[in-house]
Amino acid sequence: MNKKTVILGTGGTIAGTGAAGSHTYTAAQLATEDLVRGIPGLAQAAGADLVIEEVARIDSKDMNHAVWRRLAQRCMVHLADPRVGGIVITHGTDTIEETAWLLHELLPADKPVVLTCAMRPATALVPDGPQNLLDAVRLASHPQARGVLVCALGSIHGARDVSKVHPQRLNAFASLDGGPLGWVEGGQVRWAHAAPPSAATARQGALLQAPVFTDGAWPRVEIVMSHAGCDGALVDWMVAGGVRGIVVGATGNATLHHELEAALRRAAQAGVAVRIASRCPLGRTAAITGELWRDADGLSPVKARISLMLELMAA
Ligand code: SIN
Repeated sequence: MNKKTVILGTGGTIAGTGAAGSHTYTAAQLATEDLVRGIPGLAQAAGADLVIEEVARIDSKDMNHAVWRRLAQRCMVHLADPRVGGIVITHGTDTIEETAWLLHELLPADKPVVLTCAMRPATALVPDGPQNLLDAVRLASHPQARGVLVCALGSIHGARDVSKVHPQRLNAFASLDGGPLGWVEGGQVRWAHAAPPSAATARQGALLQAPVFTDGAWPRVEIVMSHAGCDGALVDWMVAGGVRGIVVGATGNATLHHELEAALRRAAQAGVAVRIASRCPLGRTAAITGELWRDADGLSPVKARISLMLELMAA
């Protein structure tokens, strides 16, 4: 049976408008319905039925926990519907990798949840949004697609590896270590490896029903960077302010400026959870053992922040 595809809108440049053909625009202006309307072939690609719902209309630089909570909950409702085959989320490029990782940690992976975006507004001379959206819908209705994926400029990225690597180019995303999982070319999905992505169990799926997730403020987790001239003042200040977790963008192979390290020891001894990620975009640091903190399991600082926040909620 042909299944429904759900499109959930959140805003971003894909819904941005400005003077026709201008580089200046405001993100998140168009209703999700307006993005979808008029894209040739989209209704057919979506299968039996297309459901369109607007979860938010924001510039993704302003993404917040309330929108994340609502988005995860709406995904969950639709994924639980046996008539739904897959979900597409329209999103800004700036934090799409964070939203993808959050959803990867929370949602069951037996159906595809495909995030897409655009680097040019809908009013650009040649906008990239319509093609990205069409490709994302094709991917979301592909029988072998599973789990949380990001689809932009014809490439399919996994939630763990994807990051925005360029502030201006249309081809702004890369899966740095692993490479893309596949491509959408000429309307067809082509997987990079013999086997398409397998369904992984969401590590924090149980949280979706937990009051700590559904009500109130999520634990405060901040990111600090180790850098030349660094001291620990920021960490001491955050601890005094009640931070629950700190993720460090460490130098190289998880090394820390000695003054920052001393402050992190004070923080960890005061009960703050500390995770060490690397500033390096490629590779992963050696595992950290026998310390007051753990390594970030190869995640970038922004993704490690999300995992630590969910870990603290689950605890
Ligand atoms: C945003 O992230 O919402 C604005 C920038 C973009 O989508 O490219």
